[in-house]
Amino acid sequence: MPAIHRFGDLRGRHGDFGATTAFQNSINVKANGKGVVRAGVDNYNIHTDGSTAHYGTATPGSSTVSVNGSPVAITGDGVDSGCDSTLLAGSPDVSAGA
Ligand SMILES: [Fe+2]
Repeated sequence: MPAIHRFGDLRGRHGDFGATTAFQNSINVKANGKGVVRAGVDNYNIHTDGSTAHYGTATPGSSTVSVNGSPVAITGDGVDSGCDSTLLAGSPDVSAGA
């Protein structure tokens, strides 16, 4: 089962910039002491594909676990805004259904 993606967990590189982390997260739901990232809500650091710069949020998130009303981001999720990166890292012991 995929791992829950948390503040500080890496997502893959896209274009000219390397792997980045979300800079937003839930303030009241944590896994291993780190705020969890919500799909469609919490943005990743701005980066570029070589022509345009963009933020982006995880998509689609878990189909079984919601946080603050939105699906929790999980490893294997993509990033919207035309970004082809993937969430790589997550909790070692907290998971949610894809
Ligand atoms: Fe991107």
